[in-house]
Amino acid sequence: MKLKTSMRVPFVDLQAQHRSLQSQLQAAFNEILESAHFIGGSKVREFEEAFAEFVGASYCIGVSSGTSALELSLKALGLGSGDDVIVPANSFFATAEAVSNVGARPIFADVDAHTFHIDVASCERVITPHTRAIIPVHLFGWALDMAPIEHFAAKHNLFIVEDAAQAHGIGRDGKRVGSSGRLTCFSFYPGKNLGALGDAGAITTGDACLADLLRELRDHGSPSKYQHRVVGTNARLDSLQAAALSIKLSHLNDWNEARHRHAQAYTTALKDSGVLSPTVPSAGEHNFHLFVVRSEKRDELREHLSKLGIETGIHYPTPLHLTEAYQSLGAPVKGTLPQAETLAEEILSLPMFPELTSEQIDYTAEAIHEFHGIRDQHRASMSCA
Ligand SMILES: Cc1ncc(COP(=O)(O)O)c(C=O)c1O
Repeated sequence: MKLKTSMRVPFVDLQAQHRSLQSQLQAAFNEILESAHFIGGSKVREFEEAFAEFVGASYCIGVSSGTSALELSLKALGLGSGDDVIVPANSFFATAEAVSNVGARPIFADVDAHTFHIDVASCERVITPHTRAIIPVHLFGWALDMAPIEHFAAKHNLFIVEDAAQAHGIGRDGKRVGSSGRLTCFSFYPGKNLGALGDAGAITTGDACLADLLRELRDHGSPSKYQHRVVGTNARLDSLQAAALSIKLSHLNDWNEARHRHAQAYTTALKDSGVLSPTVPSAGEHNFHLFVVRSEKRDELREHLSKLGIETGIHYPTPLHLTEAYQSLGAPVKGTLPQAETLAEEILSLPMFPELTSEQIDYTAEAIHEFHGIRDQHRASMSCA
């Protein structure tokens, strides 16, 4: 018995999201076109205020990307040449790249195989006398348990800069990621749970002085036109992106809840399917930006799914320390961060987006059962050709 191959399951479906918002988006674009106010102005201020309120932060500084959010945050803290910053080995490249781009050195720590989050015990092993900060990543949309990281940072007198690029709208103990008062960096890359229509990002903080400095740093170090108090850069959030983000922000909670329901449905459908499903914590704690399973035959499974029209991703195929860029900069060699290295070989991100249908989830799960040659009750309920 073979699965139907007529169904297509995209990894994300931004067109579906934008279809329902098209008239609102177009009205906002027309307004900006009329005003010709493309940089800064009310659209950016409105989004910054709305996002600060949404996460529960005192200040939000809109910037041009998640990468610039990280870079400007490190710069605002005065980090640079001669400083080391601990980052998890399983993250998007930008987490480490931002450290390098301010002239500091990323120190790679291993991750926990269950949560995929940075492992504090590994941080204790890799810390150097020059370490001044740590960048924990709320990876895949699961809010980190910050207590052990805070303890580690306090013990070693380190700054914490949170990488919340994937962590929109989640938190722990009633506190949303972004509300800690620390510098917290968000990405609004289009595929994120809150995505712009191009590149965009933001930093939230509770520190008025850092907020002022970050506003200057994103705009050529300029408190007002043609005054340059410090050397900054051009990393501004533009009005079109801010307007789109404000429209989308009002849907974020619903979208996150839908993703969480899909994660629960996947977990049920993938029972005894031969892959290891991720833990599904409460809806407020995990936004399932990515639904990542583990399989020892990951590459063959991926190919099987691809043949059946199911798109998947790998986040991330190479641990940061083993990337060509960092190997050439003398990062630790293969074998030094075993959990991150094993995960990189086994993890597979299944299709996940709010508009995913139960048919698409069942079809994907059934294809995984089929790959492992497993027939179960779930299969019996599927419509197979
Ligand atoms: C964990 C993480 N950090 C940083 C970034 C960088 O964000 P951006 O692509 O907006 O520069 C991303 C984006 O993919 C990310 O997933």
